[in-house]
Amino acid sequence: TRNGIDFAVADLGLAEFGRKEIRLAEHEMPGLMALRREYAEARPLHGARIAGSLHMTVQTAVLIETLVSLGADVRWVSCNIFSTQDHAAAAIVVGPHGAPEEPKGVPVFAWKGETLPEYWWATEQLFNFRDADGEIVGPNMILDDGGDATLLVHKGVEFETTGVVPTVDDDDLTVAEEYRIILDTLRRSLAADPQRWTRVSADIRGVTEETTTGVHRLYHLAEQGQLLFPAINVNDSVTKSKFDNKYGIRHSLIDGINRATDVLIGGKVAVVAGYGDVGKGSAEALSGQGARVIVAEVDPICALQALLEGFQVARLDDVIGQADLVITTTGNKDIVTVEHMAKMKHQAILGNVGHFDNEIDMAGLARYPGIRRINIKPQVDEWVFPDGHSIIVLSEGRLMNLGNATGHPSFVMSNSFSNQVIAQIELFTKHEEYSKDVYRLPKILDEKVARIHVQALGGELTKLTKDQAEYIGVDVEGPFKPEHYRY
Ligand code: NAI
Repeated sequence: TRNGIDFAVADLGLAEFGRKEIRLAEHEMPGLMALRREYAEARPLHGARIAGSLHMTVQTAVLIETLVSLGADVRWVSCNIFSTQDHAAAAIVVGPHGAPEEPKGVPVFAWKGETLPEYWWATEQLFNFRDADGEIVGPNMILDDGGDATLLVHKGVEFETTGVVPTVDDDDLTVAEEYRIILDTLRRSLAADPQRWTRVSADIRGVTEETTTGVHRLYHLAEQGQLLFPAINVNDSVTKSKFDNKYGIRHSLIDGINRATDVLIGGKVAVVAGYGDVGKGSAEALSGQGARVIVAEVDPICALQALLEGFQVARLDDVIGQADLVITTTGNKDIVTVEHMAKMKHQAILGNVGHFDNEIDMAGLARYPGIRRINIKPQVDEWVFPDGHSIIVLSEGRLMNLGNATGHPSFVMSNSFSNQVIAQIELFTKHEEYSKDVYRLPKILDEKVARIHVQALGGELTKLTKDQAEYIGVDVEGPFKPEHYRY
């Protein structure tokens, strides 16, 4: 704690650098800046205590300061142990008007290269807001990416109400080790305060969730009747998943591969597992660099899309030995097994951009008889098999576009985060209108987010005449498409 702000970041001395990059990013994030202007007077998030768990990058810094400028009290952590940009974290703690000796910003608990116990310790710090009298209170909103903050509250409440150790099923969590760490976190907090999570949960008006994997978790909870508060699925705003997941990864996947290895991608064989939104962006980026791309899919619709884009569609089992690069994008588990890895070419590169690290069997690799790990540099490891051939694994199987590079660029994140801000305002101010279910934002707001970014890029929209609008059955001002339209 310094100057009344508690925080845990790598180095507050990096704040000035962080501030410079935040200033540049603001110009590239017109959606967030427009929302700041629109709500400057109304400050609709006044009274909101937002617990945010989302990669602590420069782009997220602009999101955090937008929430603050709309009146919110905020605490923040990264949703991945490798994704923090330490200068951004420092700048947010120091704040635009503070100094490293006298921080005036937002409590952040995030640094690049956390251990898993540190990660869950940090996540727990999200829930320690202070009221006017300095008493600890919980948040009343969660902003989540992947659902870990939401998971902690749900498991905590389960623990308190049943008195038994909650089971975290396989799909919920990456590895047993992480499960034990969460349970330890909960046990400690329960020993100190047996009703903590029940109280925390009762105060929460809702959660807004950023990514495909977190959204899967929310729908699962809602189906089981276990969701404790309303949720907005931000991922499935069109201006999120059809832009961030696709065009964001098209930029940051290549960025990560280059910074990690600097190998020439052209002429190589790249296998992309999964051809959803993230897979589409990945395949396009790799083929844009001149790689021969092979797609592995389970869904015939996505497989057909890949074929019609000119990609070969094959099973990983059949092509693993040809691959120079293997990238997983499925959001599913057990995609690349250790048997696959053993068959990969010498110095082939393996990386994952799906949300969790269970796409690649890292635990199996570490247990492989006679395996040797050579750390090349942070987040780049060469794993040498006993026969002498090796593979290069990026970010220990975790999101390599954030671990080896800096994630998606500002402009695309401005779209995603504008949806986040709108969703936070919606749930915070109208929570009585929502039940414990998962909702999406209305299409007119999606179009609003897109419109701002079209203008920023100098696009000129055509305007419907009243006659034309009537002919196709829409309003002159939109929404322009029915709900079932797929873009
Ligand atoms: P999606 O649902 O559109 O695509 C996933 C695809 O993987 C689907 O087409 C599915 O059929 C396929 N798939 C599932 N199991 C498979 C298997 N065993 N073999 C081959 N294909 C399989 O999801 P989306 O939006 O593309 O997200 C994928 C993952 O990426 C999620 O975990 C999401 O949270 C994450 N994500 C990561 C980002 C990043 O910056 N790295 C950005 C956005 C999302």
